[in-house]
Amino acid sequence: MNQLAEELNEVLAGTVAERLFSEMGRHMYFPKGIITQGAEASERAYRFNATIGMAYEHGQPMMLDALRKELPGLTPTEAVAYAPTGGVLELRKAWKAALYKKNPSLEKKNISLPVVVPGLTAAVSYICDLFVEPGDTVIVPDLHWPNYRLIIEERKMAAGITYPLFSGNAFNVEALLEGVRQAGQRRGKAIIVLNFPNNPTGYSLTLEEADRIANGLLEIARGGTDILAIADDAYFGLQYENNLLCESMFARLTNLHPNILAVKADGPTKEDYVWGFRMGFVTFGGRDLTDQQYDALTKKLTGIIRSSVSSSCSLSQNLLLKALTYEGYDAQKAGYRAVLEGRYKAMKKKLASMKLPGGLEPMPFNSGYFMSFYCEGFSAEALRKKLLDEMGIGTVSLLDRYLRVAFSSVEEKDVDDLCEAIAQVVAELQA
Ligand SMILES: Cc1ncc(COP(=O)(O)O)c(C=O)c1O
Repeated sequence: MNQLAEELNEVLAGTVAERLFSEMGRHMYFPKGIITQGAEASERAYRFNATIGMAYEHGQPMMLDALRKELPGLTPTEAVAYAPTGGVLELRKAWKAALYKKNPSLEKKNISLPVVVPGLTAAVSYICDLFVEPGDTVIVPDLHWPNYRLIIEERKMAAGITYPLFSGNAFNVEALLEGVRQAGQRRGKAIIVLNFPNNPTGYSLTLEEADRIANGLLEIARGGTDILAIADDAYFGLQYENNLLCESMFARLTNLHPNILAVKADGPTKEDYVWGFRMGFVTFGGRDLTDQQYDALTKKLTGIIRSSVSSSCSLSQNLLLKALTYEGYDAQKAGYRAVLEGRYKAMKKKLASMKLPGGLEPMPFNSGYFMSFYCEGFSAEALRKKLLDEMGIGTVSLLDRYLRVAFSSVEEKDVDDLCEAIAQVVAELQA
């Protein structure tokens, strides 16, 4: 094993992170190579900086006129230079400050500096690189973002163990906890993914459910099981009903018990309406982890980044940094959120007022971008195809049993027509 990896493992010795590492996680380190030497030179090389593979002219990176014309608000360094492997420092600090503002339960809890990765997909994938290895099990609800399966089962060669997301109209807290208990008994550790608002159902936890999950995990951790809790907060902050948990479960689980490591995967993709920016953040939260230990964990994660994509897009990072401090940023975000909430309310109202054909059942939803129908007695895929072929309406079928509808993408005025069309096509399928 590389000497630098051994040093990082030494710093993390005895922590839940060290116990949870995959083989890749254990071996990973951030090399003292070109990047470190380049960073040193950018601080101290006052005559010539002949380190990094970029082309400079008059002290600035070269930049094509066509790009200068399109990006007048950015300096060449902001627009075209490489970003540091872990991301633009100012942006990381700004995101961390925002995490405390958006998650009141984080108050007085020490978390790591978020690391920039190229999107939430990369965030989940890199977290799994650090902690999941062949033979491990990762506990996800039966209704989950399908990409988890690709990451967990095909990339990491682990097993995705599912539990029923719902018990009646509520989140199935007991099934999740039972999965964690069983994983603990088998291997002494459990890895869970908590995604609220959930894709594909648009379900967020009630405050009471969130408390029960946190208390249940605490009890299991006290019994000696190491728990990795991955909070996928892709749709953070889009809760539309009272009494829902509006902050991340990460905030509840950070600092809860020395056997629990919480890791937050989030980013501006949906929160800031920049889907194609390809930017996300990974943040660690553990009970009593020191800054030096967070730094060691972060170095391992930057090793993962360096060895895969090297660094994330600097243009989007610098644009987001400007957006975060732009006057009117909060107001415009609130405005967009209100538009989504309007579509949600329209969907709820229409579904409550309609007589839906038997077998077409809206599942509980209270947040996010989506809602899903449970399809009983007919094929969800047949419904999807018929909606597309005969009505020109695009939806997503999952497991041939669920139809996912992204109300986030349908104008409020069209929501009634959308629901009518779905009901009509189901009735035709059943005729
Ligand atoms: C639950 C969930 N996690 C992660 C992602 C991926 O986000 P990104 O586009 O930032 O990779 C999505 C995107 O649809 C999602 O629904």
